[in-house]
Amino acid sequence: MNAAILATGTYVPDRRMSNHEFESYLDTTDEWIVSHTGIRWRHIAADDQAVSDLATEAAHKALHRAEVEARELDMILVATATPDYPGFPATACIVQDKLGAVDAAAMDITAGCTGFIYGLETAKGFIASGFARKILLVGAEVLSRHIDWQDRNTCVLFGDGAGAAVLSAEEGDPPRGVLDSYMRTKGDGAPLLIRQVGGSRTPFVCGKTEQRDVYLQMDGRKVYNFAVSSLVETIEVLVGRNGLELDQIKYIIPHQANLRIIEAAAKRKKIPLEKFYINIQEFANTSAATIPIAMAEMQGKHLLQRGDLMITIGFGAGLTYGGNLIRW
Ligand code: ACO
Repeated sequence: MNAAILATGTYVPDRRMSNHEFESYLDTTDEWIVSHTGIRWRHIAADDQAVSDLATEAAHKALHRAEVEARELDMILVATATPDYPGFPATACIVQDKLGAVDAAAMDITAGCTGFIYGLETAKGFIASGFARKILLVGAEVLSRHIDWQDRNTCVLFGDGAGAAVLSAEEGDPPRGVLDSYMRTKGDGAPLLIRQVGGSRTPFVCGKTEQRDVYLQMDGRKVYNFAVSSLVETIEVLVGRNGLELDQIKYIIPHQANLRIIEAAAKRKKIPLEKFYINIQEFANTSAATIPIAMAEMQGKHLLQRGDLMITIGFGAGLTYGGNLIRW
């Protein structure tokens, strides 16, 4: 049984924040941010919006496009690093309730910016086993609540948003959907991208916890090098072990953390930049939401035709990385 992607949907908050807004209170410039990252805008959640709200909006759009009712869903997976609540309940359970998906199991996937990639293979597994016929997979983040807005090294890089995909069991030859996935972890790199406080290792202690330790911390230079090599390795593995030539891949959808990371990988593999779908200028880094936001945008622009081959690639906290080979 194949796991075909029936449709995608996206939602980003209304508030669209420009680089210039940082200039008013930080030692930074629009020129620095654009030249070092490619980012011009990011969308920021309203005070009353949590990850489940963004995820539910994106899910409604994907279900509508797929012509699937919420009650048909057997499972809801939410890939996120910024859940509504730490640990429990899973954000997927809140989405299940908001959608009225009465027959769906629900759980979250924590794999940083690679969450949607891990989620696609997880969904495929549940469909292949016969456990599920229809699965909703959402990548959603409200990173704006977890960054130090006074730290110019990180706060300019991130944004909020959600993207969703409806996957369905399907027989057919050639198969559609997730054909192959490459998933890897370098756990020794965990400290390079971390929120120190709030878990069982370092619980929040009122009056003792340093405020900066509550926020996301990143060794940007080391993550940059890891990201470029992850992109290159994932392309090589997915193309190589499936007996494909790069010409046969219509689009590569990379995680959007920094335009220079994508450019460096494209140069190293001698792949034209046009093959990479890039929207970092509008959304910045939305972690697990990045890939499904891009897929939903591409579907909206009618860039994807039935039968097209594409590769998704993610890399992020964990450190996790990998990608999916997909036939649309
Ligand atoms: N404005 C002005 N100057 C800045 C800013 C800013 N917003 N941010 C950093 N700088 C300064 C630094 O302080 C440093 O100054 P110094 O030399 O006086 O100390 C200088 O710019 C250069 O710093 P570099 O680290 O060399 O800058 P670089 O060109 O490498 O860009 C960046 C930094 C954008 C963070 C880059 O390293 C990067 O993109 N790293 C990867 C991030 C990533 O991929 N994250 C993905 C995972 S995210 C996730 O999983 C949630």
